[in-house]
Amino acid sequence: MQALSPMEISAVRAEFPALQIPDQCVFFDNAGGSQVLKRVADRIYDYLLTSSVQLGATYPTSTFASTRVIAARLAIAELINAADAHEVVMGGSTTGLMFQLIQAILPGIQAGDEIIVTNTDHEANIGAWKRLQQAGAIIKVWQVNTESMQLDLEDLENLLSDNTKWLAMTFASNVLGTINPVTEVARRVHAVGGRVCVDAVAYAPHRLVDVQASGADILVFSFYKVFGPHYAVLWGHYELLHSLANLNHFFIAEDNLPYKLQPGNVNFELSYGCQGIAEYLVAMGTQFGGKGSRRELMQFAFDKFEAHENFLAQRLLNFLNSKSKVRIIGMRQVFEGNASRVPTISFVVKNTQSETIVKRIDQFNIGIRFGDFYARHLIKALDLEKHGGVVRVSIAHYNTVEEIDALIGHLSDILQ
Ligand SMILES: Cc1ncc(COP(=O)(O)O)c(C=O)c1O
Repeated sequence: MQALSPMEISAVRAEFPALQIPDQCVFFDNAGGSQVLKRVADRIYDYLLTSSVQLGATYPTSTFASTRVIAARLAIAELINAADAHEVVMGGSTTGLMFQLIQAILPGIQAGDEIIVTNTDHEANIGAWKRLQQAGAIIKVWQVNTESMQLDLEDLENLLSDNTKWLAMTFASNVLGTINPVTEVARRVHAVGGRVCVDAVAYAPHRLVDVQASGADILVFSFYKVFGPHYAVLWGHYELLHSLANLNHFFIAEDNLPYKLQPGNVNFELSYGCQGIAEYLVAMGTQFGGKGSRRELMQFAFDKFEAHENFLAQRLLNFLNSKSKVRIIGMRQVFEGNASRVPTISFVVKNTQSETIVKRIDQFNIGIRFGDFYARHLIKALDLEKHGGVVRVSIAHYNTVEEIDALIGHLSDILQ
């Protein structure tokens, strides 16, 4: 756990124009949406003003635009470590891509197929799966342990069966912050012949995604949480995607991936813009002194970000742990045994509505928020509706020690 040096944090912050605006608010609602890289915005602007034509024609501007969009797909494949760019499906949002996925899975579902969802997920990775009940699928729920606030692997064992077709889970909860043991879960689900769909929305801003190492069969996240625009990516193993139903026109061939799962055009300018995220990570890795391949440089950057985020998160957790009226909803330390967390920190205050705390912090131009964050089943299971949900402080790597200390100072006054 080590904060970025003054030079490193200024290099990071210089990449985000929103952080340069005088009297700008302090952004601690990053799990809601992160700030956008200049590199990303510049690319979108450039694409729209120089190459906004339909792809696939033979005239030069169209071939130029096609080259750009193909390169962007390759860059996104590299960012997530996909073995093949055909495995990269793009779309407007994680929620939208999940509904598309379900539509493509639906014809293969038979009565009695079992699908396990968790009650810790954002609704995007629960509700879509429930729609498969119309084909006779049985939904089972992996319930959070309300004491430890973790998903227990022993409980999973009781849910798995020879009929398990899919398990849908979050890589990290957008409320609890705990990083789930996805690889181990996938091993167990694969052992009974099932597949795993992972929502990595709350994870991807904090760790370098590696779809191949994750063990997932499907992994999805949104770029607006990862310093980019409102746009999302769904990855799946080639053979799996190939086996799914065609969502596109009848004349789009069954093996035309990812096109058969992307009805209509993808957003060319946003795809091109997202390439800027990979560029940024490589640039930061290089600037911080990393060496090696582009992925190694990205990993180097993320290692630095992770140490910095852990430093800030532990500082806030130490403060919250010192307040008897506060109950942290999730891990109380950055590391507990083998478990670790992302710096998305939720808490409630005894006999207090979460809204009251947030409104008071608003007055200091610090952006935090309260609610259920669409993890409604989790908030209910933990009996937190009576607080109007949790107070959530979600840190990003561009936040500073001064910012976290300012928040702690104001919370300290409020929680007297
Ligand atoms: C963990 C998680 N999953 C899914 C989503 C939904 O993402 P989108 O808005 O792209 O549909 C969110 C949005 O907050 C989220 O936090």
